[in-house]
Amino acid sequence: MPAETLRAVRGDLLCCVDDPGLSLDPARQAAALRWLPDGLLLIRGGRIAEIGPAARLLPRLGPDVPVDDHRGRMILPGFIDAHVHFPQIDVIGSYGEQLLQWLERYTFPAEQRYADPEYAALAAQDFCAQLLAEGTTTAAVYCTVHAASVDAFMAEARRRNLRMIAGKILMDRNAPPALCDTPASADRDSRDLIARWHGAGRLSYALTPRFAPTSTPEQLAVCSKIAADFPDIYIQTHVAENRQEVAWVRDLFPDARSYLDVYDRYGLLRDRAIYGHCIWLDDADRARMAASGAAAAFCPSSNLVLGSGLYDLRVPHRVALGSDVGGGTHLSMLRTLGDAYKVQQLQGISLSPAAALYLATLGSARALCLEDKIGSLEVGKEADLVVLDPHATAMLRRRGSVCAGLEDALSAFFLMMTLGEGVYGTYVLGDFIPRTG
Ligand code: GUN
Ligand code: ZN
Repeated sequence: MPAETLRAVRGDLLCCVDDPGLSLDPARQAAALRWLPDGLLLIRGGRIAEIGPAARLLPRLGPDVPVDDHRGRMILPGFIDAHVHFPQIDVIGSYGEQLLQWLERYTFPAEQRYADPEYAALAAQDFCAQLLAEGTTTAAVYCTVHAASVDAFMAEARRRNLRMIAGKILMDRNAPPALCDTPASADRDSRDLIARWHGAGRLSYALTPRFAPTSTPEQLAVCSKIAADFPDIYIQTHVAENRQEVAWVRDLFPDARSYLDVYDRYGLLRDRAIYGHCIWLDDADRARMAASGAAAAFCPSSNLVLGSGLYDLRVPHRVALGSDVGGGTHLSMLRTLGDAYKVQQLQGISLSPAAALYLATLGSARALCLEDKIGSLEVGKEADLVVLDPHATAMLRRRGSVCAGLEDALSAFFLMMTLGEGVYGTYVLGDFIPRTG
């Protein structure tokens, strides 16, 4: 959207402006939620310029300002997916294995196709289109080991003006030769990609060692140097997802206190470091995460599908939400929240609708240090929005007609949502993209 272009968006505005907590304290929940039925967002040059009741703001708008009328629909900040593998849209729903065997049998073969830049470019188009169809406007994305896969993804995200974080996977052992780089090529490619993409439009680069078992100590030392040279890039990797994986890391790195400590020794724990899964961390690891500013990406759908374990949200550090496609079987953060609810229930924790909304929006924005830009409907933030239709299906209409208030409506919405049918459209920097596909 050009700098001075004005547009207004009308509907039921909903977001979190703070952490509602997990404690189900009604006062804290109410203070954290902002709900403005029949509200208006005034967007100037892609950013939120004003917010208020439609009845108050509409009469002040000039006749030339277009108003998108979403009355009866909910307008939320765009969802954030803090952990997703774009090439793995090709392995969604692969059956019958847990993590390490699943990587060997399905994922590594599929990722080899991304050596072909044309294949990667077409997949990037599909992936971005599907993210938006599910209401996700920001994601932290793993590409493959091929630098061309990062170029393909970044070019597509740039073309669409998206705020995205992505990086080339680094792995130089315990993977098929066609997917292995070397410490030297990992260093060169990562630095080239940082120069090309970090800070281009709304793109950020993420240094992406796949996980400790697939990087030699020499390659982790390269990561350490790159991380020190570029303090404002992201770091993303996996940790403590699966018990067999944890035991393997213990064998590979006998001197480390824990799996997380392997990364810590290489200086990879800090703000803007996103650690996928974190299921099998211990209390010392969790305290270290909190002290360092690193965030966990909680990926409940994937954890259920791969049988990895139950993540406990009562942790002291930052937590974001991830789909982890293709371990996760869909890109919908609404369905991911439904799975998050069930994973917490199995541990006696009730994830309130407000806490769920926070996890997919402001909580993840905070975890990614993007709170000043996205995650809520507040003046000055980028107008990345999702429009939800509470009447999208017969079942939602029926349940909605007997809802007892906002919390009830929201929880019904999260728990009943299937395949993003409730997503009516998405705004990217103030430009509307109707849902397709
Ligand atoms: N650990 C290392 N690589 C992967 C991956 O691609 N997916 C998941 N879920 N875990 C991993
Ligand atoms: Zn993953």
